[in-house]
Amino acid sequence: MSSGSYWRPRFWPEKHAFYRRWVKLAGAPAFQSWASAMPGARRLAKRDGQALFDLVSGFVYSQILHAFVQLDMPGLLQKEPLPAWRLAARTRLDPRRMEVLCQGAVAVGLLKRSRQGEYRLSRLGAALPGVPGLCEMIQHHDVLYRDLEDPVSFLRGEGETELARFWPYVFGQSGTNDPDLAARYSKLMSDSQALVAEETLRVVKLEDAHRLMDVGGGTGAFLRAVDAAYPQLRLRLFELPTVLEHADLPPRADCVGGSFREDPLPKGADVISLVRVLYDHADETVKALLAKVYDALPPGGRVVISEPMAGGATPTRAGDAYFAFYTMAMQTGCARSAAQVSDLLVQAGFSAVETIPTYREFVTGVVVARKPG
Ligand SMILES: C[S@@+](CC[C@H](N)C(=O)[O-])C[C@H]1O[C@@H](n2cnc3c(N)ncnc32)[C@H](O)[C@@H]1O
Repeated sequence: MSSGSYWRPRFWPEKHAFYRRWVKLAGAPAFQSWASAMPGARRLAKRDGQALFDLVSGFVYSQILHAFVQLDMPGLLQKEPLPAWRLAARTRLDPRRMEVLCQGAVAVGLLKRSRQGEYRLSRLGAALPGVPGLCEMIQHHDVLYRDLEDPVSFLRGEGETELARFWPYVFGQSGTNDPDLAARYSKLMSDSQALVAEETLRVVKLEDAHRLMDVGGGTGAFLRAVDAAYPQLRLRLFELPTVLEHADLPPRADCVGGSFREDPLPKGADVISLVRVLYDHADETVKALLAKVYDALPPGGRVVISEPMAGGATPTRAGDAYFAFYTMAMQTGCARSAAQVSDLLVQAGFSAVETIPTYREFVTGVVVARKPG
């Protein structure tokens, strides 16, 4: 027996032989054609075909959504259903092209079509403008799509990405000296914060807390939500000075300007929150930040991490397809699973690390931990 090989009976199948045969069969056009005609197999073949087709056309669906938002179709159809030619007149589009957009929007579930050929908002289409920050997020996706235009060179890490410039703090400089840029990214964050705050505060209870400090808290949207839910709590925002210029804080809150890369975090809070902060940064930055959070907390103090998370052993569309690629385009960050976040917390010295399931994990995931008392 040569080194590295092992004995097996003559007719014992190779470890992956069955898998290899199955892959070959599933990829054979003749098999596909047979399956699509066979009762029983037909349903499965159709479902697989549809799933593949949806993957192929996903970008077009997204662009229908983008046009739908950019042309403000929810606003135009707010009062009454309209035929395509009237929507075309209001948006200065060729009526035939508007008809194509409307039909596409019906197909992806944003509109419904009446027998008379008028279009009205579906439940999904009507809900869209009500989801805080969603329309802004959709419009800002042109930056991400440009970065993903050549996905293989993107995955090889070739070239710069536009998204990294959109979030200037990711490379370690103390944010940006450009107040317009800071205002732009802060607005996008603050618009989309409402849902994250709602989801986080649904599962994290703060009745026993005295002071909460939100580190990297943007313009204070999370603190405003905490303030509304816990009027007894003292609040503090720690942020980059350029962002603090745009802060809108509740009256009882104060703020401290600084960079968590270069400065220590102020003491005095028994709860420190990091909402959508860790996933922007590389492990080394996160480790250093968690060490500072640990130092700033009193014994028994709590850290609350809330951000979209990857699924780990069970990858999710939101965490592992969307946020993982988004953060990769930012170039420094990564979507981590709750287990990875927990590991980083344990390494920083925290105990009682707990992953708290949220209702909408595509909005955010939550991990809490305590500094040993
Ligand atoms: C993705 S945003 C999240 C903002 C807010 N927590 C939210 O969820 O809406 C990340 C925030 O971290 C802040 N940030 C980045 N680097 C920082 C640093 N070195 N020190 C302090 N804040 C920083 C940014 O200015 C930005 O507001």
